Amino acid sequence: MTAQADYGEKIPNNVSLHEDRRLQRALEAWQPNFLSWWDAMGPALPTRDVYLRTAVNVGRDGWARFGFVPMRDYRWGIFLAERDPGRLIPFGEHKGEPAWDRVPGEYRAELQRLIVIQGDTEPASVEQQRNLGATAPSLYDLRNLFQVNVEEGRHLWAMVYLLHAYFGRDGREEADELLRRSSGSLESPRILGAFNEETPDWLSFFMFTYFTDRDGKYQLGTLKESGFDPLSRTCEFMLKEEAHHMMVGTTGIDRVVERTAQVMVERDTDDVAGLGVVPLDVIQKYLNFHYSVSLDLFGGETSTNVANYYTAGLKGRWMEERRRDDHLLTSDSIMVDALIADPGTGAPSIGQTEVAALTGLNTDLRRAYIADCAGGVNRWNKILDGFGLSRRLKLPHAAFNRRVGAFAGIEASPDGELLDAAQWERRQGAWLPTEVDKTYVRSLMRPVRERGKIAAWIAPPRHGIDGRPFDYEYVHLS
Ligand SMILES: [Fe+2]
Ligand SMILES: [Fe+2]
Repeated sequence: MTAQADYGEKIPNNVSLHEDRRLQRALEAWQPNFLSWWDAMGPALPTRDVYLRTAVNVGRDGWARFGFVPMRDYRWGIFLAERDPGRLIPFGEHKGEPAWDRVPGEYRAELQRLIVIQGDTEPASVEQQRNLGATAPSLYDLRNLFQVNVEEGRHLWAMVYLLHAYFGRDGREEADELLRRSSGSLESPRILGAFNEETPDWLSFFMFTYFTDRDGKYQLGTLKESGFDPLSRTCEFMLKEEAHHMMVGTTGIDRVVERTAQVMVERDTDDVAGLGVVPLDVIQKYLNFHYSVSLDLFGGETSTNVANYYTAGLKGRWMEERRRDDHLLTSDSIMVDALIADPGTGAPSIGQTEVAALTGLNTDLRRAYIADCAGGVNRWNKILDGFGLSRRLKLPHAAFNRRVGAFAGIEASPDGELLDAAQWERRQGAWLPTEVDKTYVRSLMRPVRERGKIAAWIAPPRHGIDGRPFDYEYVHLS
């Protein structure tokens, strides 16, 4: 069983932190560094308090509490999902053995690496979103931004707890490094590419929370299967919070599409640039960008590292326990994307090749993600359809704008047509946001801070937060 949530401590937790004074002291020493990072790199807009959800426990009934909190006083805590004492490792060569409560010595380096990579993304997104408060389209949206920010901060705490509790001095050093790297920095950037991109406007923010946070959901889903039980339980609880981030992205894009469609119908034109909303082809370009950089986050089509993680029981598959196979995969194969050289001319073409299922696990995860992303596109197209419009959004081909994996060395159109460098140079402005597009989108980003009001480029949400109406005063500015 999980210990009761201890909310009286400096660091709220349900891991009986007070029983391990050394660990408690180490984390309490890290806490001021976290707060200095938050002050320097967290939300830049000054606020008095914000209507926020705070995790207070992990139980089925009521794991969070809503209320006005000055953001700096947010109770970032350490919460692991309840322990299942009979849990068995669900896959790999240790399948069927009891899950590990400690780090097995032979997997120490790999586990630490997985936790550091996950941990690095959490503060990165806060840094990327630092300046968005200045241009929020409504108090409701501003509150959602801050909710995502404080929860990414809590996810950092979650990973730092694991590093401190299970990885000794190396872990503590890595925890410090998580605050030292920063998004977009030239000297010490964040580990993964998409987390060094800018999030300069709210369309980018919604695309980020839809496509890039969704990558996070899939990574957490595979770590939730881990044989290392504290990691599994940590990620299981993080997934609960992540659902809200997905909602922000999904409904955010819903509302942008809805507003654009409205104006297209009212004015009977596709050419809505200059009418105060985002044209559909600009929405498509933003989608193309965020989707393609997020596909890169899944790594190469094949990876022996990931095969080893699986065999060792460190990182499973999405929905591992629902898969109907042997959960060892030693004799299975999978088709993965590849560049195929023409046997005669040597010219490359986009195709597929068969590899061992274990080495193709990145592809397996990316495919689950792609299917999930398609759900959003269907939703947005239904909105267009509801307005009687025939235009549609779509996911670009997996080879489009890739910097990692089989297609890193080539260029392709969103339809998957191979292009040479000159063609790509000439045509990419039709597919990716140009400076003109970005400047236009930025020009729409004027803050609306009056209760119940909203910017003209986005429709209001269907529902407020925690049963409150849209026109609730979710944020008190200072
Ligand atoms: Fe997160
Ligand atoms: Fe997130």
